[in-house]
Amino acid sequence: MRILVTGKNGQLGRSFQKIVSTETKTDNNQSPNDFIFVGREELDLSSKSSISHYFKNNKFDIIINCAAYTQVDRAEQEAELANQINHLAVKQLASIASNQWAKLLHISTDYVFDGESGKPFTETDTPNPINVYGRTKLAGEKALQKVMPMNALIIRTSWVYSEYGNNFVSTMLRLGRERDELSVVNDQMGSPTYATDLADAILEIIRHNKFRDEDQTTQIYNYSNEGEISWHEFAKEIFKLAEIDCKVSPITTQQYPTPAKRPRNTFMNRNKIVKVFNIKISNWKSSLNTCMTILKKLQ
Ligand SMILES: NC(=O)c1ccc[n+]([C@@H]2O[C@H](COP(=O)([O-])OP(=O)(O)OC[C@H]3O[C@@H](n4cnc5c(N)ncnc54)[C@H](OP(=O)(O)O)[C@@H]3O)[C@@H](O)[C@H]2O)c1
Repeated sequence: MRILVTGKNGQLGRSFQKIVSTETKTDNNQSPNDFIFVGREELDLSSKSSISHYFKNNKFDIIINCAAYTQVDRAEQEAELANQINHLAVKQLASIASNQWAKLLHISTDYVFDGESGKPFTETDTPNPINVYGRTKLAGEKALQKVMPMNALIIRTSWVYSEYGNNFVSTMLRLGRERDELSVVNDQMGSPTYATDLADAILEIIRHNKFRDEDQTTQIYNYSNEGEISWHEFAKEIFKLAEIDCKVSPITTQQYPTPAKRPRNTFMNRNKIVKVFNIKISNWKSSLNTCMTILKKLQ
């Protein structure tokens, strides 16, 4: 088995490496040596020729695409670059995977939705992205499905955080230690996702016959931790666990304007992934606790 994981320096890529390097997490048919992790140094998704060049001499059984242009606000100014990485590169990866007879597992986002439904989004609900990032990710999903109607899988996830890099948890910890009071929006609702839990779920999926078997129709699955909260509630729990004495005041999205519009409510229904792949989903509070415990040890 040769399994390629892109985005090795990102939150999900690094969480993957952490799990794969733990021997107990790999089954008899899969060894840590099966995984090849690449970053933009080896495989630059902003360059069509870099992608073709890399795959000329490298063949895989499974490609897991964790790389993406993820800077939601900056994407408004860098639409072309975001489109290249989140859309055109995904299309190219799909075409390469198809030619190599490789399976492709790609990660997408809750930001393909407008957040106006008022009920949990299912995989068949009609997307309607309201910012550049969401539009490029949706274009990537669609291109992938067109090029690979079989043998690929898309996971839509939301509010990803981890021990690595910049994310909401690391930002709150930094600001909470610097300030006595902080205002955080409480009218955008969603579900946090601990990157380690998502990486674990992906490992479960790629071991499953439903993924491994030939000629499975390409499908979309939602994945996040259990529970629906606002950013304000998320911040309060982070401070509670970190024992940081910082007052968190709720504010509206209107009071906190950002270059990119954010969807108001992106709860996603996770029943499909649970049913098809028997994935166990942890509650957001217990996963946040796990991440914070690791962060404390790293301090
Ligand atoms: N973060 C979230 O809240 C969130 C929410 C919903 C969905 N998602 C999706 O989940 C997936 C994983 O996200 P994440 O949080 O792990 O993102 P991340 O931490 O921002 O990591 C993304 C990775 O993509 C790499 N990348 C960017 N441009 C590249 C290029 N031109 N060529 C090659 N690699 C490139 C980055 O490389 P460098 O390290 O070199 O910059 C980075 O390592 C993505 O598909 C994202 O869209 C994320």
